[in-house]
Amino acid sequence: MDLTSWAIFPLLLASIGVYGLYKLLQKLRSGAYLQAAVVVITGATSGLGKECAKVFYAAGSHLVLCGRDEERLKDLVQELNNMRLKSTQLHKPHMVIFDLSDVEAVNTAAKEILHLAGRVDILINNAGISYRGTILDTKVSVDRMVMDTNYFGPVALTKALLPSMIKNRRGHVVVISSVQGKISIPFRSAYSASKHATQAFFDCLRAEMSPYDIDVTVVNPGYIKTNLSLNAVTGDGSGYGVMDKNTADGRTPEEVAQTVLRAVGERRKELLVAGLVPTLAVYLRTLAPTLFFSIMSARAKKRTKAKGFITNSNLKAKITVCI
Ligand SMILES: NC(=O)c1ccc[n+]([C@@H]2O[C@H](COP(=O)([O-])OP(=O)(O)OC[C@H]3O[C@@H](n4cnc5c(N)ncnc54)[C@H](OP(=O)(O)O)[C@@H]3O)[C@@H](O)[C@H]2O)c1
Repeated sequence: MDLTSWAIFPLLLASIGVYGLYKLLQKLRSGAYLQAAVVVITGATSGLGKECAKVFYAAGSHLVLCGRDEERLKDLVQELNNMRLKSTQLHKPHMVIFDLSDVEAVNTAAKEILHLAGRVDILINNAGISYRGTILDTKVSVDRMVMDTNYFGPVALTKALLPSMIKNRRGHVVVISSVQGKISIPFRSAYSASKHATQAFFDCLRAEMSPYDIDVTVVNPGYIKTNLSLNAVTGDGSGYGVMDKNTADGRTPEEVAQTVLRAVGERRKELLVAGLVPTLAVYLRTLAPTLFFSIMSARAKKRTKAKGFITNSNLKAKITVCI
């Protein structure tokens, strides 16, 4: 081995050391950022929102938990109290009860949040509803309902809280979108449309808020093992009520909540939390759209042909098998 080859080892060690130091500093900065920050979480009664509440609470954040079901929020507060963290981190989370699909209720809730907590440092727009159905068979009222919950609700809450963030010159808006905010897959039109709109709005918000130093993080997860598919609506507005295999096989909400916590602490602008196939699909949609459209058409044709035309009456049975 000549002298140049030997010189590589100290260089490599120095690079590892610098990277380690960078990571440590990043962790310390992130910890300080989250400690005592006022964090508002929508959809805290279940799934990802509930797990986000636990990890942000453990990081020392002061929580405002939002949901529609007061009893379930009370149970979560009790669970958080039982976590027995260091006394400095113990505080009682606030609860604000409202339906995100009602803009008037959202505006009233925003006032209540500011009254209870005094300020909002981090808003996590997490609540959402999913949908299963064919476009032909879906009532426009259902498209509208999904849009009201997944898009207009977060938009209204964000708009209502932004002025106070700007006044405080501190604020961070997080939105839980989806891989389906990047690509649209058959039989998920309403959901995918609401998440595409969400992606577009919050990308625009990021740019417009940069003069005020307000951060925006868009999180795009793939499947998470939550009640999302069980709680999904169908084309006629009735509940889907099925735990899909993809959802059941998804990442755990605990794992995704930890990823969200890290991303917020590092003030990431966007992140995709998905496996190889959905990640490739996102790139394919941009780099080779014609191929992507062919794959989606083949998927829709195959499943429609194999299972017959899907109507509301047989949707639940068929869609479980075909999606
Ligand atoms: N699970 C996945 O595979 C997956 C993948 C990508 C993205 N996501 C996104 O992750 C977020 C969290 O969903 P999740 O998977 O945790 O599902 P989840 O367990 O069904 O939780 C959804 C939460 O949203 C709340 N919510 C629904 N409609 C609401 C409304 N009109 N007003 C107020 N709150 C409402 C629910 O409250 P109630 O208890 O009152 O119904 C619940 O707390 C959603 O935005 C979803 O789109 C999920």
